[in-house]
Amino acid sequence: MSEKTVTITDNATGKQADMPVRGGTHGPELIDIRSLHSELGYFTYDPGFSSTGSCQSDITYIDGEQGVLLYRGYPIEQLAEQSSFLEVARLLIHGELPNKKELEEFEESITRHTMVNESLRIFFNGFHYNAHPMAMLTGVVGSLSAFYHDTIDINDPENRLLCAHRIIAKMPTIAAAAFKHMVGEPFVHPLNRLSYTGNLLNMLFARPSEEFEINPVAERALDQLLILHADHEQNASTSTVRLAASTGTNPFAAMASGCAALWGPAHGGANEAVLNMLAEIGTVDQVPKFIEKAKDKNDPFRLMGFGHRVYKNYDPRATIIRKTCHEVLDELGVANDPQLELAMRLEEIALADDYFVERKLYPNVDFYSGIIYRALGIPTEFFTVLFAIGRTPGWVAQWMELLEDPEQRIGRPRQIYTGAAKRDYVPLHRRG
Ligand code: SDX
Repeated sequence: MSEKTVTITDNATGKQADMPVRGGTHGPELIDIRSLHSELGYFTYDPGFSSTGSCQSDITYIDGEQGVLLYRGYPIEQLAEQSSFLEVARLLIHGELPNKKELEEFEESITRHTMVNESLRIFFNGFHYNAHPMAMLTGVVGSLSAFYHDTIDINDPENRLLCAHRIIAKMPTIAAAAFKHMVGEPFVHPLNRLSYTGNLLNMLFARPSEEFEINPVAERALDQLLILHADHEQNASTSTVRLAASTGTNPFAAMASGCAALWGPAHGGANEAVLNMLAEIGTVDQVPKFIEKAKDKNDPFRLMGFGHRVYKNYDPRATIIRKTCHEVLDELGVANDPQLELAMRLEEIALADDYFVERKLYPNVDFYSGIIYRALGIPTEFFTVLFAIGRTPGWVAQWMELLEDPEQRIGRPRQIYTGAAKRDYVPLHRRG
């Protein structure tokens, strides 16, 4: 079958160019515009890349209109219900669900890489107690490069896999060290007998003075939240990791750039912003006032946890988290959490308001996650750190895919220059 093309006509010159159209397994077809400049002399303009495909990927598929999310073809609802975070991490990296032996080998490898060099732990002494944990995470993840510089040959597939395991394994240890620095408690080493998520909870909440018992409800809820955050195709932080990696930089530096991008309140920082927003709203009777603020173009206030660049329907992750929220709060005996009540009323009122309906603004993954984190005893400013732990397998899988993609080259967007026209330098003594 002949290749499908779209013809672009330059009405100023009458010149035409046929651009190939490329489609994938699911989802929209894209016009390959790489020859546009050579054929018609134009580049394309798309601030925020809302209409631009940066790569071809086998990893994750999102249908924003239908509220569909697939990791390597598997629906997020089924993975959240039946899988584990480490099984999902391996699925994202290798592309297939592992058999029992493959999963055990992967879990064993991750377990064996959870410790960090003792010198790395001293880094935390340099941070003030009130340093934001994302500042600590971003800095310390980037510094992992200093400890593994001899084994970062990104052109060696075995090396890439070793880096992948190291990053996935060490994120919780680094995150928990940041948390312990925040609360002024001694760091807790990883314990190999614990699950990945159980280890995270233990490193966060264990203290030398008493035994810490891992609550299985909290362990399962957190593991499911990590699954829901594991990947999301070409979101801002993943695109940042890809752009950094396209220069050939080492994976730890690329992951640190992902942490930096994720921190923003419009992206992974939204879960922290949702809880701060709920605290600012305070009570249900204040909801209408804040809904009006969110609609007011002159007011920078936005309804955090609402809206999405791709989902113009319910974020399927929000639906799952909303259900888990009720189950976890019931089982933890905090079912009457006033902030959950407030969040539910806010959602109800917003979804009945034409402004949100017309713009297809629905709750996203961040709207309810913070309420569960809070119920698990995690402080608000630490929520985005948990998002980063969850997103790490996605960043790693996308990093590996980029390096193995023959079409990929260093990322270098273009611009429309609107500055001063060419002019000559004026010596200081001749300036007014
Ligand atoms: C994540 O990309 C991903 O996949 C991200 C993520 C992932 O897993 O990696 O899903 C994780 O980042 C989820 C999003 C978390 N962010 C928030 O909850 C912050 C609040 N949401 C908004 O900032 C916003 O909705 C974005 C950033 C999420 C999306 O922004 P867009 O696509 O640029 O939307 P837009 O600015 O074009 O909005 C369209 C309209 C505008 O109004 P009009 O100009 O058409 O009149 O909707 C309005 C916006 O003002 N709008 C909102 C709103 N979000 C959009 N109005 C009030 N409250 C909001 N939250």
